[in-house]
Amino acid sequence: MSSKIVQSTLLGNRAGDSTTRQHSADDAIDMAKREADNQTKLRRARLVRRVSFDLLTRKPIVFSLKNDVGALARALGTLKENQIQVLHIESRRSERRKSELEVYVDCEGKKGLFMELLDQLQRQMSFVQEPISDAIKNMGSIDDGPWFPRKITNLDQTACRVLTYGTELDADHPCFKDAEYRKRRKVFADIAYQYRHGQPIPRVKYTSEETKTWGRVFSELSRLYPRFACREYYNNLQILRDHCGYREDNIPQLEDVSVFLREHTGFQIRPVAGYLSSRDFLAGLAFRVFHCTQYVRHTSDPLYTPEPDCCHELLGHVPMFADKAFAQLSQEIGLASLGASDEDINKLASCYFFTIEFGLCKQQGMLKVYGAGLLSSIGELQHAMSADAKTLPFTPIEATKQECRITTYQDAYFVSESFDEAKEMIRDYASSIRRPFSLRYNPYTQTVDILQTADQINSVIDELKDDLSLLSSVLEKVMVPDDATGEQNNIQE
Ligand SMILES: [Fe+2]
Repeated sequence: MSSKIVQSTLLGNRAGDSTTRQHSADDAIDMAKREADNQTKLRRARLVRRVSFDLLTRKPIVFSLKNDVGALARALGTLKENQIQVLHIESRRSERRKSELEVYVDCEGKKGLFMELLDQLQRQMSFVQEPISDAIKNMGSIDDGPWFPRKITNLDQTACRVLTYGTELDADHPCFKDAEYRKRRKVFADIAYQYRHGQPIPRVKYTSEETKTWGRVFSELSRLYPRFACREYYNNLQILRDHCGYREDNIPQLEDVSVFLREHTGFQIRPVAGYLSSRDFLAGLAFRVFHCTQYVRHTSDPLYTPEPDCCHELLGHVPMFADKAFAQLSQEIGLASLGASDEDINKLASCYFFTIEFGLCKQQGMLKVYGAGLLSSIGELQHAMSADAKTLPFTPIEATKQECRITTYQDAYFVSESFDEAKEMIRDYASSIRRPFSLRYNPYTQTVDILQTADQINSVIDELKDDLSLLSSVLEKVMVPDDATGEQNNIQE
């Protein structure tokens, strides 16, 4: 095709002068090159499409037939021409038109050929439909359950639904009678209320009192971490010291920490004015968003806070969110919570509580801490690692039976062999939660994809196939024998 274009272009300029002819020849060569490039792109695009086109899929189709001899045979012939296999067939009198039959066919064939088939049937018949399968109908509708955010920007709607904040503190809160502190809390609450996804988190100029309170917590806990904190926590805290201003005389800014986490695990921070409901908080985790308070606890008691403050968030949570396996574990809990019933939300909140907040793990035969509630509490951290504390192997079922204590130490702490083990257990547990759909997080669009129909699942398979193809080609490269040594070029661990 490209050669014909070159030829016709040259012929078209034969009557021109030599300069024109030279230009025309150059233009023609450029055009030929562009055409060759286009052809290459087209071949690649066809190849990609073919992968998707060739996937086998199963679909039910309903079409109507005029009640004449040979109509069904012709329709089945159309299926055969498109290499569609009939798995099951039924017919009934049409309720729309009494003179017609409606035929239900359960078919299997290549995805691309189905499109062609439907097109042909629609040209032949007055009625063609792809009904929703009974299995899917019985699953119920996504709209039957509680609303949940489908995209990361939806968190703008839920992040403001705090249960308590600043000016509405309980009577037993250390700052209940401190008007200045309440006024200060309102500053932080306003930042959180005005924040919208994608904006940088406003920097805060902390007062010397606030910095002193943080400094006391930071220095006391830093003495305990080498003995009690898990390896991942300890290593990440060191990086945060180097890159995010984690120092005794400086409270790190949420924006800096958020940028740091995004680079490491894709997690990001969103300021929040106070406690969210379990449903809204867990939903954030599904999108790798951590709702994080920015205020500092009351200065009257630096080593105690009845609610999460930035000392708890920055020292307890942030270093762990920089770990890939832990980030995945957190997101699994979040994804399981979307659209779940209130009862299941409570159970998932318990799983979250006894892992992300109060979890222990084993490392080199020793008990270590990874839970933020412990890593930010001097008293309970020492208690949990003492002989007085009761420990149990973590299972989601057992965790849901345990009472979550807020103002006293836990009755028991749960130990996981690893974050991956906890993640797998939570994934299994999540699959037992009844929802009329499955979900998959799409990191490109920061949305959750609903997986309910064959087409939706096939679309995911298409993407996975591309990923597997890439991995396969990488494997081929690394397993190729080295020319010089004849040894296999294996992947380095
Ligand atoms: Fe927390």
